[in-house]
Amino acid sequence: MKITGTTRLAGIMGWPVAHSRSPLLHGFWLDETAVDGAYLPLPVQPEHIGEALRALPILGFRGCNLTIPHKQTALSVVDRVEPLARRIGAVNTIIVAPDGTLEARNTDAFGFRENLREAVPDWHPATGPAVILGAGGSARAVVAALTDAGVAEIRIVNRTLTRAEALARDLSTSTTRITVHSWVEASQVQRNAGLLVNTTSLGMTGEPPLVLDLLSLPPSAPVVDIVYVPLETGLLAAARQRGHPVVDGLGMLLHQGRPGFEAWFGAAVRVTPELRAAVVATLVPPR
Ligand SMILES: NC(=O)c1ccc[n+]([C@@H]2O[C@H](COP(=O)([O-])OP(=O)(O)OC[C@H]3O[C@@H](n4cnc5c(N)ncnc54)[C@H](OP(=O)(O)O)[C@@H]3O)[C@@H](O)[C@H]2O)c1
Repeated sequence: MKITGTTRLAGIMGWPVAHSRSPLLHGFWLDETAVDGAYLPLPVQPEHIGEALRALPILGFRGCNLTIPHKQTALSVVDRVEPLARRIGAVNTIIVAPDGTLEARNTDAFGFRENLREAVPDWHPATGPAVILGAGGSARAVVAALTDAGVAEIRIVNRTLTRAEALARDLSTSTTRITVHSWVEASQVQRNAGLLVNTTSLGMTGEPPLVLDLLSLPPSAPVVDIVYVPLETGLLAAARQRGHPVVDGLGMLLHQGRPGFEAWFGAAVRVTPELRAAVVATLVPPR
């Protein structure tokens, strides 16, 4: 990569940020498209997020991604929040407009939808209710994607019921009913479901395992795990063994980067097997 006087700048703000795969992802696309651009890790402590975002236009940045812990706090800093991000209650992509104002988007719902479309093209929103495990930030993006896709019923299973109830209140629509369930009901709610998605951190390396039997889930229902470390979680391994179509979380991560890249650097990009392999190489520790 060569930096010039006209190099377009973007990056990712997080604290910590060193673990992020976004510089690798955007660096891959910059090489592939030969755009004169650079994408930098920007370690920003929580108390500085306002100043850091306001500095983007001053420093000539086109925008940035946001990761933990800035995805909610940035909402009150920016000038405009797209309606989808407002509904989800979190933003992960900032675009500096030509007049220097800041526009915020949430591309996780887009990433989830695109990954699902690509991985299970035969899945249809009318197949049956969707079961979502979890009610955190990513669950809200997944639920928004599924309501927009036209799923008529979404069943949320979460440990903290008040959090799931808030999600249901915020995201249900005239065409999508959202119901809330405890883990005791996790098996029962899978009956006649058309899709199951894990959005909890259970099953992630370093977190407790996700213990769930899939006996009631119709065999044709795809099982998605948005956790991508490890790539094949215990849930996906069990689902694969039972013959379900399975979808790992890496595709969502890769697809969510596309709108930001296109806005900052002005080139359309794709998620290819080469890109996936480059990122997978960073997930699997060398033996
Ligand atoms: N593939 C992607 O692009 C992508 C994007 C975003 C996130 N993710 C992954 O998704 C996962 C969740 O992220 P998030 O941002 O939604 O996190 P979050 O807002 O902190 O939510 C965490 C969720 O996990 C549940 N949970 C955590 N520990 C639990 C336990 N011991 N028992 C039962 N439930 C538990 C929480 O339940 P309570 O509400 O009861 O606490 C909550 O529903 C992470 O692993 C993250 O890496 C992937």
